[in-house]
Amino acid sequence: MMRDLQHRFIMLIPLLESRLREAVSHVLNSEDLASVQIRPSNDPRHGDYQSSSLMQLAKQRGIQPRQVATEVVGRLKIDDLCDAVEIAGPGFLNFKVRSTVLGEHTRALLDQPNPWKLVPDCARTYVVDFSSPNVAKPMHVGHIRSTALGDCLARILRFQGHHVHTDNHIGDWGTQFGMLLVGWKKERDPQSLAEDPLGELERIYKLVHQQCQENPETLAEAREELVRLQAGDPENRGIWEEMIRISQVQFDTVYRRLGVSFDHCLGESFYNPWLQQVVDELLASGIARVSDGAVGVFSDGTKEPNQDPFLIQRDGEWRDNPVLIRKSDGGFNYATTDLATLMYRMREWTADEIVYVTDGRQQQHFRQVFETFQRWQPELAAKVRLVHAWFGSILGADGKPFKTRSGETVKLAELLDEAEERAMNVVREKRPDLPESQRQEIARVVGVGALKYQDLLSNRQSDYVFSWDKMLALQGNTAPYLQYQYTRANKVLRDATASAQERSVDLSTATEQERTLAKQLLYFGLALESVTQEYRPNLLCNYLYELAGCYSRFYEACPILNSEEPTRSTRLALCELTARTLRQGLDCLGIDVVETM
Ligand code: ARG
Repeated sequence: MMRDLQHRFIMLIPLLESRLREAVSHVLNSEDLASVQIRPSNDPRHGDYQSSSLMQLAKQRGIQPRQVATEVVGRLKIDDLCDAVEIAGPGFLNFKVRSTVLGEHTRALLDQPNPWKLVPDCARTYVVDFSSPNVAKPMHVGHIRSTALGDCLARILRFQGHHVHTDNHIGDWGTQFGMLLVGWKKERDPQSLAEDPLGELERIYKLVHQQCQENPETLAEAREELVRLQAGDPENRGIWEEMIRISQVQFDTVYRRLGVSFDHCLGESFYNPWLQQVVDELLASGIARVSDGAVGVFSDGTKEPNQDPFLIQRDGEWRDNPVLIRKSDGGFNYATTDLATLMYRMREWTADEIVYVTDGRQQQHFRQVFETFQRWQPELAAKVRLVHAWFGSILGADGKPFKTRSGETVKLAELLDEAEERAMNVVREKRPDLPESQRQEIARVVGVGALKYQDLLSNRQSDYVFSWDKMLALQGNTAPYLQYQYTRANKVLRDATASAQERSVDLSTATEQERTLAKQLLYFGLALESVTQEYRPNLLCNYLYELAGCYSRFYEACPILNSEEPTRSTRLALCELTARTLRQGLDCLGIDVVETM
């Protein structure tokens, strides 16, 4: 989907694009001008920016691309911005931007704390549903993915000026509570409960789960306890509340360590009052029907079978694959809650877009929920974009799901401990000069940052191999490397006892490294947009890594503090903007920086 967004700050690339579109409109009288794009050149010898859009447009119309390119260049009014525009290869356009223009745009960045904010008209309302752990189970390594991804998306959207509601849809209702109630009443050990409450909940759950498999009586008992809870029995209700409280304490500790917070924490149980109504309405409208005593939504036959989430192919035939919204025992399902949740979010927050961040195994669930909503509430559904931003698994070095040595799931709290410890070992070795408390702070910021960054760096839909060595390396595309580059740029600014004479950027005699760094700095806003269009934070990671590389090459090649004015001021400005962009970029990823490391 291509959106035309406007920023408060005049961005150079959109400015060039608007000129190009103007010229294209004369030559092709095309409606599809949004597809005319300009991007940074891969090779500065071919100019600063490049467009390959004309070839596509020419092809669609069966015209010679070079001919189109020649005519467009003839129509282009861009001399005030560019020294030269050249046609290359089969119809690429290469733009060489005037140094004065590059300098002015870079200079203008200095004046605004956040140039990348959209004009208010372009701001939309987003709901980001992420993290969402289940009560009575410790958060495990998989939760880092949903939590880091969701938090990062919300931060970027906010930074761009959108209205964002983050919501932690905690699993605090459902069949597991039947077993937990049996366990609580019969198996709980008060001492363990006092010492390690969540561990004890996990233990009794596993125990009763096992018993239920071996013994139908326990299973029946668990069902009865659940029914009693759902009917509002005061004793069960009290135990349930206590279990939630115990879990919440643990969730809060983990979120505090991760630096993540939520605007809303509306768990599944919050939607209980509306579930019956959802089922009634879906039945009444004929979207759902009773089948074997349960209620489900089935295919309406309007889609190709391979596009229809309510059909599944088995033995060469398409069969029903309904989503259940009421069980035969009267209980409601995960999907029922999600439908009620959707209604609530539309009603209360009038969302333009709702993003669900969960693992890939829930793809079918969300396709069914979205499709049911579309049939049930077509008018509301037309107003909102529903997105399932799903992710793959974390693997161990052996290529299998990441587990502890003894084969258990890795708890998130323990993972955070280890990350900080490992970072501390490095800091102790590298910085014996710093006081212990400062080293601890560095280790915390580096350890947690490394863990999050490794997660965000992988394309979310692929699995990645967990590696302590890789994520903590000071070289390569890692958080510690970026955090370190930030401290380097910052140090220059601190050392500049006589700061820049004036905040000016003069690139008229700039080296290639300065130009390249300036262009990369100007590209931040579009890098952020590429993330929010596809929900892929890895694009921001790669942008920042490239920025750090540009800065490094600039730093090697260009003396800063000992250079003459106006070069000195220009270079200090580039340092300042680099430090700021790295800090803001890392902050968008949910990663902190320190001033020294
Ligand atoms: N609690 C669920 C799980 O652990 C994730 C919930 C995701 N959000 C939602 N609205 N369904 O798998």
